[in-house]
Amino acid sequence: MREDIQDILFSEDVIKARVRELGTQITQDYFGRTPALVGILKGSFIFLADLVRSIGLCCEIKFLSASSYGFSTVTTGKVKIGTQLDSEFSDKHVILIEDILDSGVTMAELQRFVSGYGPASLRVCTLLDKPERRQTAISADYIGFECPDEFLVGYGLDYAERYRNLPFIASLKPEIYL
Ligand code: IMP
Ligand code: MG
Repeated sequence: MREDIQDILFSEDVIKARVRELGTQITQDYFGRTPALVGILKGSFIFLADLVRSIGLCCEIKFLSASSYGFSTVTTGKVKIGTQLDSEFSDKHVILIEDILDSGVTMAELQRFVSGYGPASLRVCTLLDKPERRQTAISADYIGFECPDEFLVGYGLDYAERYRNLPFIASLKPEIYL
């Protein structure tokens, strides 16, 4: 697996420190409330697990699934939201937790979906942001890192379902995509 890596963009230590800062920020912003953190599967599973342990508040943990990429590195533009998991958001302070905001198409669809339940508030927290690639007017309230327009893997992010278990975030050698 490691022989497929080109560059490490964010090391394990750098990610750990930044996730802790985000947790502290959310703890301050939601003081006195019980936010519902909604992990968007599958890419956010590691980020969510680390983030919630840096939040010093009672919080609820929920999941939604969203997929549009299949076995490709560009969005198909059609987002499938999986609702078979717990999807009760009315009157809750919802924070959607994403691995990466790219075109923004997935997040726009998720926001529309959750808004339909009448949440008390709705914010977005993303580990990575690729603002250059945006096709919709979506921005996140909490951003771990801005990153260049490169396809990245690790710390939950996959290419064709692989590399999610790398502890850092990296680009892949070009021959891997062939
Ligand atoms: P968007 O709809 O184009 O914003 O895509 C968002 C989703 O695409 C994310 O939740 C990721 O699952 C996936 N994605 C976008 N960019 C990358 C990347 O660089 N590596 C891995 N997955 C990505
Ligand atoms: Mg993905």
